[in-house]
Amino acid sequence: RRLRRYLTLDDFEPQARRLLPKFLYGYISGGAETDAARTDNRRAFEEYGFVPRVLKDVSGRDQTTTLFGKTYASPFGIPPMGSSALCAYRGDIVLARAAAAANVPMILSASSLITLEDVRAANPLAWYQAYLAGLDERIEPLVDRVAAAGYDTFVVTADVPVPPNRENNIRNGFQVPLAITPRVFWDTVTHPDWLLNTWARTVFNHGMPHFENMDAKQGPPVLSKNLMRNIGSRDQLAWKHVELIRKRWSGKLVVKGLISPEDARLAREHGCDGVMVSNHGGRQLDYTVSGLRTLPEIAAQKGNMTVMVDGGIRRGTDVIKALALGADFVWVGRPFLYAAVVAGEAGVARAIALLHDEIDRDLALLGIRSLKEITPDLVRKY
Ligand code: FNR
Repeated sequence: RRLRRYLTLDDFEPQARRLLPKFLYGYISGGAETDAARTDNRRAFEEYGFVPRVLKDVSGRDQTTTLFGKTYASPFGIPPMGSSALCAYRGDIVLARAAAAANVPMILSASSLITLEDVRAANPLAWYQAYLAGLDERIEPLVDRVAAAGYDTFVVTADVPVPPNRENNIRNGFQVPLAITPRVFWDTVTHPDWLLNTWARTVFNHGMPHFENMDAKQGPPVLSKNLMRNIGSRDQLAWKHVELIRKRWSGKLVVKGLISPEDARLAREHGCDGVMVSNHGGRQLDYTVSGLRTLPEIAAQKGNMTVMVDGGIRRGTDVIKALALGADFVWVGRPFLYAAVVAGEAGVARAIALLHDEIDRDLALLGIRSLKEITPDLVRKY
């Protein structure tokens, strides 16, 4: 009932900001350095408007989408977001369950704090996203673990060879590993809702959270000084490792975090089933252009690959613009995590329903009944 006042995805952010310690709100919302990449994610969508058609019977609208052989309720899903369970109690499970209930896909992050086996149990359609060291002997056992857990889709995030430069995290005292500095301590005690309902409840019920899913075995606790050891060697990751995974992994394989059409071509040549055109929500290399800007070029040469995009998608109109410019599917990150912070599974369900309803209304107003009818001539650059 109290969720009725949330009318669109952006409505969840202010309340999440109030509830979360500053360092966690900053971690979710922030981009890298000057925030130019994140800013471009919104600007790119704002550069397009619609040319709707009228007087067409638009009854019986349908936004179901088939993705890797499965039919989903909508053309959007929840992308991987690390440390979700630090932001909302059991955050990855919350996102996984809400996605399953609404029949939209959800991707578990490598930097999550709940085992991939538990998340798979909560959502039998969840995908797994990997952050990989460029070392065969580290990759192989992880691929085997993900396969043994029953996952069908393996996503390799390609845009994190080194940790990004997010100065807001440093300013707020949020570092990896997490350290309880006086600033962080004050930040948490002044946000008692988070301290009790997320942190204390997690530690009481499940113990100190660990990074569970970076490797074949449990990783270090969030407060551990050993974490950087896990992150080392990521800068050696290269296409030859994608090849290695392709040989070992019989499910669908997706590369996430490329922008260049040349890289999309390489993904196709290395046998990937899909790509996620993404600048990581503007969180990695600053001034990386929005995925929307290279999407049409990538879509034009996709062959049999599925082309997906994310970054700054907040409205049904954004979803439709991305599909009109060549995407087969889109992903929406931050708003669903804010919704989990605000109201757990019910919050995420509300957010998914809002976006679904916006798309349905927009289809009618555009004069079309299904996603197949979304064509480039429905949009114009301003
Ligand atoms: C992310 N993202 C991300 N991507 C990834 O491949 N692995 C990860 O662990 C994470 N972690 C993560 C944490 C948080 C808090 C955010 C906000 C984002 C990037 C994410 O998958 C996606 O690409 C962007 O969030 C999409 O942009 P929007 O929708 O948030 O603007």
